[in-house]
Amino acid sequence: MAVLPTFDMLLFGGTGDLVTRKLLPALYRRYAAGQVSAESRIFGIARSGLSRSDYIAQAETACRGFLGDEFDSALWDGFKGLLDYIKIDAGAPADYDQLAATLKDREHFVRVFFFSTASNLFTLFCDNLARIGVVTPLSRVVLEKPLGHDTASADLINQQVGAVFAERQIYRIDHYLGKEAVQNLMALRFGNALFEPLWRRGLIKHVQITVAEELGVERRGHFYDKTGALRDMVQNHLLQLLCIMAMEPPASSDPDAVRDEKLKVLRALRPLRDRDVLTKTVRGQYKAGAVRGLPVPGYLQEADIAPDSTTETFAALKVEIDTWRWAGVPFYLRTGKRLQDRITELVVTFDEVPHPIFEQPQTSQTANELVIRLTPDESITMTILAKNPGEGMRLKPVSLQLDLGETFKTRSLDAYERLLMDTVKGNLTLFMRRDELDAAWRWIDPILAGWQQYDDRPKAYIAGTWGPAAASSLLGRDGFSWHDEL
Ligand code: BG6
Repeated sequence: MAVLPTFDMLLFGGTGDLVTRKLLPALYRRYAAGQVSAESRIFGIARSGLSRSDYIAQAETACRGFLGDEFDSALWDGFKGLLDYIKIDAGAPADYDQLAATLKDREHFVRVFFFSTASNLFTLFCDNLARIGVVTPLSRVVLEKPLGHDTASADLINQQVGAVFAERQIYRIDHYLGKEAVQNLMALRFGNALFEPLWRRGLIKHVQITVAEELGVERRGHFYDKTGALRDMVQNHLLQLLCIMAMEPPASSDPDAVRDEKLKVLRALRPLRDRDVLTKTVRGQYKAGAVRGLPVPGYLQEADIAPDSTTETFAALKVEIDTWRWAGVPFYLRTGKRLQDRITELVVTFDEVPHPIFEQPQTSQTANELVIRLTPDESITMTILAKNPGEGMRLKPVSLQLDLGETFKTRSLDAYERLLMDTVKGNLTLFMRRDELDAAWRWIDPILAGWQQYDDRPKAYIAGTWGPAAASSLLGRDGFSWHDEL
């Protein structure tokens, strides 16, 4: 892998979860792979008054914990030489002086400002960076999700960031787009001629997208209680997966060719307004239960959660796409915390044969299915019906399975490794454009409003299950079931 151009990476929110658990280990791995030049520098930026050595000690503990056997003390000694810390309180103008001094005379290097804080601070950061004159033509800004909490707030942030950085300098992160498995989905769809003719109404009956987590809200109760599953997961990760499943083949792999096609999907989503939320969405909140045999508290008992909170920790939706290709094909989306298993999976169910000539299989599964698994393992499974050995023509579903981990036998890059390197290289393909984000929020806003008006109390589900029973009825009403319920 080629060495990257020399960069200065400024990690705002430098003592937070994302930086210590994801970004620093990702940068260490790229350093270990020999991709980071010796003149590059990485700065943690936060409010606490830490010394450089304090910060390095914190970073080391986090990286050791996260990387396990991959951590190498000799390599760390080299890597820590790139690390430093700057104390900045977002709203204290004088605090930015040290940053200005640190960046002086390095205008010819790539500069990445990574904002990994609550998005209401982004404007303050931008204004101050502009004021101290450190936004150079080689600068980029990375914005962590969720960007705003509805269309209006996202628009305001975009305007204010846009006043300091040009759109080609703005990298809106959705880390799902950086996952190897998500890129594989693009490869499957657009690198093979096989699927394209089948990828449409009349041949596909329905599509399911599940992002299920076993974890609860962990140490993020404060953030999560204001956010909920719809904003935290659906507005970004699930809609992006849906876009990649449903988009038309782009004319090239150029960032804008891909993003134009995703945008068309977002704009064709049928709005879910008012009482639609009662028939096409389900919101849930977990109660105490057990995950993998261990008791876990309910959402309302978690730290930093309001005792009467109505925030949803589960959401399921029936989504329709108003285009020639997809008219009449429902896409069912589902995500939640404290579910039975950690799984990210896309399931495409094809139509049954129009006229069966054999005995009907003795199973509820009579159609071909394509299951694309993103986590925990990366695999593609196609079920076909084959003859059951013996007398008569009795059919039985069997699987053609491709385990991508086994096949390639290499560790795939973590999403943040790829995305951080893309920001340094200046490749925007895997980042969201402003109009995409806007279209996603415009579709989410009426759901939030509908919930507020008609469905304010989330349905309870026991931690360690697949969510509220209503999520099964959402598909049951259309004569379908979730893949794990077949
Ligand atoms: C984040 C959400 O964007 O994605 C978290 O804020 C969630 O709530 C996480 O846990 C899931 O990411 P992954 O990569 O573990 O599937």
